Amino acid sequence: MLSSIPDYLSQVHDECAAETSGFPADYIPELASVDRQLWGLALSTVDGNVYAAGDVDVGFTIQSISKPFVYALAIADRGLDAVLEKVGVEPSGEAFNELSLERDSKRPRNPMINAGAITAHSLIGSYAMDENSRVELIIDGLSTIAGRQLSVDETVYKSEARTAHRNLAIAHMLRSYDLFEQDPEELVDGYTRQCAIRVTVRDLAMMAATLANGGVQPVTGEEVMTTSTVRQVLSVMTTCGMYDAAGDWVTTVGIPAKSGVAGGLIGTLPGQIGIAAFSPRLDGHGHSVRAVRACERLSQDMNLHLMEVAPPAHAIIRQTRMVATASGEAITVHELQGSIHFAGVERLLRNVDEQHSQPAHLAFDFTSVYQINDAARRMFLDAVRKMVDAGYAVSLIDPDEVLPEPVDDEELSVNIVSSMAELTA
Ligand code: DON
Repeated sequence: MLSSIPDYLSQVHDECAAETSGFPADYIPELASVDRQLWGLALSTVDGNVYAAGDVDVGFTIQSISKPFVYALAIADRGLDAVLEKVGVEPSGEAFNELSLERDSKRPRNPMINAGAITAHSLIGSYAMDENSRVELIIDGLSTIAGRQLSVDETVYKSEARTAHRNLAIAHMLRSYDLFEQDPEELVDGYTRQCAIRVTVRDLAMMAATLANGGVQPVTGEEVMTTSTVRQVLSVMTTCGMYDAAGDWVTTVGIPAKSGVAGGLIGTLPGQIGIAAFSPRLDGHGHSVRAVRACERLSQDMNLHLMEVAPPAHAIIRQTRMVATASGEAITVHELQGSIHFAGVERLLRNVDEQHSQPAHLAFDFTSVYQINDAARRMFLDAVRKMVDAGYAVSLIDPDEVLPEPVDDEELSVNIVSSMAELTA
């Protein structure tokens, strides 16, 4: 195999295994007795290729990692506005089990803390639905995202249900503010079952990769979330997913993430990979010590920090050169490359503005462009219209039709060709 990823992942796994600080959560009695040495780490690409090291097929309960996915299901069921009426999107700066409510609206501050997650849980299905059916919907939803049928770990569920005093107190407070209509005790029972859904590191890697893949499950190809829902979910994971360590996490690791108190952790790098890890030893914030350490390493070694990805805008302009047609007409060709976003088009148009004060024949060569996003496409075509109105002749070399719109726009008089030879013939 040409890729160094399997060896690298094993190395990170082995090095992090040396980390033996932290303790399993004990406020859920069943979690305290887990084997502390369990340690699994996996990466999934957006086309579902999984690289794995260690205990990646061992089952454990999903706990708070269910929260971003149930939030996504609530948005799908009720629409974003209805969900925002009940749950905010501000980091609380407090632990996951605090009753962090907004002062005036009394909305829980975000869907990643327990108060927000219990409220998001209440929004699944219809208000009148019985709690068992609501939990079934959640299990089905998460199973579709994981790509296999998941189920509840009854032992962990019962263990947490017997000791869920704090979540019950939170739910009663939420009910007193009319944040939901259901019986608080039934709702907490359902939320506890949601948290006790059993997953493996492999499942979580696939779930994280579904988010990385814009909501399309990498293996089944099913669109399980819309792109706007994915954007909402990843945004709250970035700002709130790691609770009172969110700022530290985003500056050091820079990957939208969510942890669970059983020791699981997911990270999603949009467009690139899903990361999942599991080790039951937790730090003071309730995050797996080894999983955090592994994410820090991956982010640093592989330049995975969210703020590092954008290529410089000028990188889309490969070169600008003059060519002559067979009839002797001079054309300025702007050769473009890569993936074009807002800043790239801004830079291109600024260059064109600086280089041309008189109408001329300009060509834009998209042969080496593999993608242009909607905003960039709109900006570019708008500029082409202005050029044409100002008397420029515009040619587009676009063999793969990354810019299909002008072909359909009869009013836009541009010359579309599929090669440089065709342009200069
Ligand atoms: O509600 C609880 O307390 C647990 N079922 C889930 C908490 C959790 O996973 C916190 N995350 N690190």
